[in-house]
Amino acid sequence: MSAGNNGLGTVAIFGAGVMGETLLSGLLRAGRSAERLVITERRPERVEELHDRYPGVRILDNIEAAEIADTLVFVVKPQDMGALLTEIAEHVRPGNLVVSLAAGITTAFLESHLPEGSSVVRVMPNTPALVDQGMAALSSGKHCSPEHLSEAMELLESCGRAIEVPEHYQDAVTAISGSGPAYVFYVVEAMIEAGVVLGLPRATATDLVVQTLFGAATMIKETGQHPTVLREQVTSPGGTTAAALRRLDDHKVRAAFITAMEAAAARSAELSGQ
Ligand SMILES: NC(=O)c1ccc[n+]([C@@H]2O[C@H](COP(=O)([O-])OP(=O)(O)OC[C@H]3O[C@@H](n4cnc5c(N)ncnc54)[C@H](OP(=O)(O)O)[C@@H]3O)[C@@H](O)[C@H]2O)c1
Repeated sequence: MSAGNNGLGTVAIFGAGVMGETLLSGLLRAGRSAERLVITERRPERVEELHDRYPGVRILDNIEAAEIADTLVFVVKPQDMGALLTEIAEHVRPGNLVVSLAAGITTAFLESHLPEGSSVVRVMPNTPALVDQGMAALSSGKHCSPEHLSEAMELLESCGRAIEVPEHYQDAVTAISGSGPAYVFYVVEAMIEAGVVLGLPRATATDLVVQTLFGAATMIKETGQHPTVLREQVTSPGGTTAAALRRLDDHKVRAAFITAMEAAAARSAELSGQ
C-alpha cells in the first residue's frame, strides 16, 4: 500500500521507548489496526514486554520494518539517530513518509542521510501525549507534500493536538512545549511543599494543588480569556493573592521563567548543531 492514503498504510515506529510506546498506544486507542503497526526494539526483554502488552503489533528488526513500512517514525534518542539512519537508509522506499520525533535533529540532517527526494517531517512532541493531551509541533522538509504533512498531523493527533510551525521555531517550541511539562511539575512540587510548610498533610496539599492546576488549565482553555484577565479575577485589591503575587515579583519569578526558557532554547540550538 502506498503512503499518502489517509494514514491507512503500515506505520513502523523505530525505538519503542517512552515516546515510541506513547505514540503506539495512542494510535491503537485512535482505532488504528494492530496489523498495520510495526515497532522495532533492540533489547530482548523490552521486546517481550511490548509483545505481551500489544498483541497483534509486529515487532521486527529495523531493516525488515523499513522495507514494509509506508510511514517510518523515528523515536530513538538524538544520539542514536545517525546509526539508525545508516542502518536503514537504503531500505527506505521512495514515496515513503519519514517522521522524526528526535529533539534537535533537523529535516536537512534526515534528508542528507536518506535517499534523494525523501519526504520528511520533524516533530517536537511532549509527554502529556501519554494521556492523549500531547502538544506536537510539526515542520516539513523540502520534499514533503501537503498529503504527507496531513498524514503526519493525523498520526500525532492520535495522542493530542498538533500544529505546523516553520522549522526555525523548533528550538523555541522545544523550550516551551517540549520541556514545558517539567516546568509545570516543578511549580506543582513547589506549591505542594508550600502546603506542607503551612501545616497541611502532604496528601491534602497534593489534592489541592493538582485539582487547582487542572481547574486553572481548563479555565484558560475553555473560557478563551487571557491569563492576565483570569489572574486579575482572583486578585482582590489588598487581598491574599495580591500579597503572594507581590512576593513572586520581588523574586523576579516571571523574569526567571523567561531566562530559563531562553536557556532551554539555546541548549536545543547547541544540541542541533552537534
Ligand atoms: N520523553 C520526552 O519528553 C520527549 C519529548 C520530546 C521529544 N522526545 C524525543 O523522543 C525520542 C525518544 O525519547 P524517549 O524519551 O522515548 O527515549 P527512550 O525511552 O530512551 O526511547 C528510545 C528507544 O529507542 C531504542 N533505540 C535506540 N536505538 C535504536 C535502534 N538503532 N534501533 C531500535 N531501537 C533503538 C532504545 O533502546 P535502548 O533502551 O536499548 O537504548 C529505546 O527503547 C528522543 O529523540 C527525544 O528527543 C522525547
